[in-house]
Formats: sequence, structure tokens, C-alpha cells
Amino acid sequence: MVAKVLPGVGPQFPQVVVLVGATGDLARRKLLPGLFHLASAGFIPGCRIIGVSLDELDAEGFRKIARDALTEFSARKVVDADWAAFAENLQYVPMAAGAAALKAAVTAAEREFKGESLRLHYLSVPPNAALSAVRLLGEAGLVDRSRIIMEKPFGTDLASAVALNARLHEVFDEDRIFRIDHFLGKEAAQNILAFRFANGLFEPIWNRNFIDHVQIDVPEKLSLGKRAGFYEQTGAYRDMVVTHLFQILGFMGMEAPTSLEPDPISEEKNKVFRSMLPIKPSDVIRGQYTGYRTEEGVSSDSDTETFIALRCFIDNWRWAGVPFYLRTGKRLAQGQRIISIAFKEPPKSMFPAGSGVSAQGPDHLTFDLADAAKMSLSFYGKRPGPGMRLDKLSMQFAMHDTGHIGDVLEAYERLILDAMRGDHTLFTTADGIERLWEVSATLMEAPPPVRFYDPGSWGPNAIHQLIAPHAWRLPFERVWRAPNSVGS
Ligand code: BG6
Repeated sequence: MVAKVLPGVGPQFPQVVVLVGATGDLARRKLLPGLFHLASAGFIPGCRIIGVSLDELDAEGFRKIARDALTEFSARKVVDADWAAFAENLQYVPMAAGAAALKAAVTAAEREFKGESLRLHYLSVPPNAALSAVRLLGEAGLVDRSRIIMEKPFGTDLASAVALNARLHEVFDEDRIFRIDHFLGKEAAQNILAFRFANGLFEPIWNRNFIDHVQIDVPEKLSLGKRAGFYEQTGAYRDMVVTHLFQILGFMGMEAPTSLEPDPISEEKNKVFRSMLPIKPSDVIRGQYTGYRTEEGVSSDSDTETFIALRCFIDNWRWAGVPFYLRTGKRLAQGQRIISIAFKEPPKSMFPAGSGVSAQGPDHLTFDLADAAKMSLSFYGKRPGPGMRLDKLSMQFAMHDTGHIGDVLEAYERLILDAMRGDHTLFTTADGIERLWEVSATLMEAPPPVRFYDPGSWGPNAIHQLIAPHAWRLPFERVWRAPNSVGS
């Protein structure tokens, strides 16, 4: 491995990563490119990676898959010398080879380290395969000195999540378990905490007295790729809402934690989840894009939703009565990840009719959760010249303008590094997840029928009634200002 080492940022001990699901979509899109970046940037010197999956491959075959994945998905240029060093540390054990073969591969990798090392098991597998992977690790005797990252969704409902937690605890102690939700690893998601709690300006108005409603909107242009098998079992609600969108809701809605430590943060987030009202099926629009049922691997009468929009409530002193509108889906018009906070309008307007006041909706604070994060605060201001005409203006911040955009760690990179260092701050807890399944039970017991929508649209028409008298912020009426440009 290249002798690049960044002191103080990476884990204390070298790591052996056992990547279960190593040839799957997530591994190719995010985990292998992420591990490569962490290794080549010097964050995880000497890290060995052992791929495990159902595919019958040898180490060379796995290296080829990893190399192709980097070509296709790495956001950064892959330097040949870095790849050669990384490839040397990639090994592979097919699932069918069993526990003894896996143990032998891990032991061989560890022997190459002179001193102490730790193990990180990454379970990038669907919920129904999680337990057998845990069992395999147990049988292989790979629990000592190890931590385990569990991919979302964690279970498929309350009963399965409780059972999974119980079985998991038979093998791994809670402090060894890292339930990942990569939205919490996004720089922009952590910036919500910085924005709220490092400033005195916004927190006083962060409540039901000033905020009219909130939108968390994550449309995707993406389709299923090769994930039909996974997606048919999950659908948009389990894949995205009960996981990513609710976790973002937790950051948005929580009280100030007593410190930035894992327990206080989880506790405040979990209090938000405890205050959530059960999701009412009448507050939910489920959609399916036309053509989904003819995709490879999808049943011809599938009822899986590829789209969901819903209204939910956090019934506590801060948020009672404030609707939170959530939306996400596949094959929509745009790929975006925004949180938009609509402030209440002034109680009285002295501006003449036709002046334009409130014509372009309420004042908004908007967060774009992209890696190149942006924020905007929009408000009415006077158009220069005679008379009193009002225009919607905005103040915008773009991460690009800070000169630090190259330092952004992709969400999985950040979280893998945190797990290697034993830091639970940005991971979800068993309690929190179980509570989210609990508030979902009403919906999952009586889901409304799916409505069809055209690929490339914004979802079924009923989304407009769901949010009326308000309107969805997306598509934006005014586009984001290009970084470093002037104008409103
Ligand atoms: C994953 C979901 O967790 O998140 C995918 O399983 C989705 O269906 C993805 O496409 C979106 O993540 P990101 O970071 O690309 O917005």
C-alpha cells in the first residue's frame, strides 16, 4: 500500500474489512469507490478488504469488478499507482466456501499486519439476508475485535426489526453495531446541526409560531438498475422514507442536544420519533411509474410503490400542527434532495394590491443536501425604481464558494471512517428504528392503492391535493444562482 498516512483522522489500528454483498449495486456504486478513496487519500493505511458474495469468483475476478466500478462510479480520477496498491489488498471468498474459508482469509490478512488490528464487517445485503450473514460471521469466529455495519432498511416492519435486533445481540454487543443511514453522513445533513445550533439567529424562529410547513423532497431520476429483486421487497417507503427522510426529519425537528456526543444526539432524535403521530393512510399517495411491471425481475401485478408522498406530524410543543410533507420516487423529472422550510406570512399587508407581495409564496429557507451543498433564504424586497413593486429575492450560500469543496467526504466514506474509529454519532439506534416502524404500522397495514404516473413527471396528480393550499417547491420557480455569480 502507498505509504500515504494522514495522522489523527483515520482509525487507530489497521483494519480488515469483510464486505458482504461485495459485488452488489451499493458496493459497486459507493462502497468500493469510497474505500478506494479513503485508502488512496491515506485515511486507512494498510486496510485489507475481503469481498464476500453469492458470486463464484476468485480474487482476480473481484479485482476486475472493483476496477470497473471505479471507472464507472468514482467521482475522482483513479491514479494507476493507487489502484495497484489498493488491488493488492483485495481478496475474495465466495459465500458457498463457508465460514472456515472466510476465517482463513481474514487470518491471512491479519498476519500481514505486524501489530494489533481490528475487523469491520460491512453487511451490504437486503434485510432478509442480514441474519444469515451475521450467523456466518459468528460461525467463522470473527466477532472478536470487530464492528459491524448494517445496511438499511433495518428489518421490514416492527416485528422483523425487533427480531433482527434480538438475534444480532446474540452475536454482537450493541456498542459494536453500526446501523448506517448514509443520509446522516452527508456533509449537508450535518450542516443542519451546525446551522441550527452554532448560530443564535434561526433557533428562536425554529418552531410552530413562525414555521408554516416543511418539505423534505428527494425525487430521483434513477430507475432500478439491477435492483428489482431488492426493490420489489422494499418499495419507496421502506427504501427511502422510514430511513433517510425520517432521519433528516429527526435532525430538522430535534431539540438542542446536551452535547455533540452520540447518546445525546440519538436521544433528541428519538424524542422526535416518539412524538410523531402514526402515519395516516389518507395522508399518503403511493405511486408506480408506468412500465415498472414490465421491468426485468418485477412481477406483472406488482403493488410495490416506486413513489411516495405523505404528510406527517411531530406532535410536541415545538411542532404541533405543523405539517411535514415528504416525497421521493424513482424515474421522476429531476434528481434533487432538498429541505424547504416555509415561514408564516405577515399577519397584515400594507402593500397595495398588485404590488407582488406574497405572489411568489412565503419566505423560504432551503437546504440542498447535495455533496456540493447549498442554502438559500428567500424573502420579499423592493424592486428598484418608482412606486412599490415587490420581488422575491434571496441570499444564497454555496459550498463551492468556500474553496473547501474538494475536502467533502462522500457520505459512505465519512461513515465507514467513523465506524472504524468506533464513533456512533451519525448512526441510528435500535430504539429509534423500532419507533419509526411503529409509526409506520398504520400505513403498512392499510396502504392506499398505487396510482400510476408517467416516467419523467413529478408523480401522480394527487400530490397537489395532498399539499394544498400550499405547493411543492420543486420544480423551483427560480433556479439556484450559479456559484460566485451576482444577481438575485
Ligand atoms: C439508497 C436507496 O439508500 O439511497 C436508493 O436504496 C437511492 O434507492 C439512494 O437511490 C439515494 O442516495 P443518494 O445519496 O444518491 O441521494
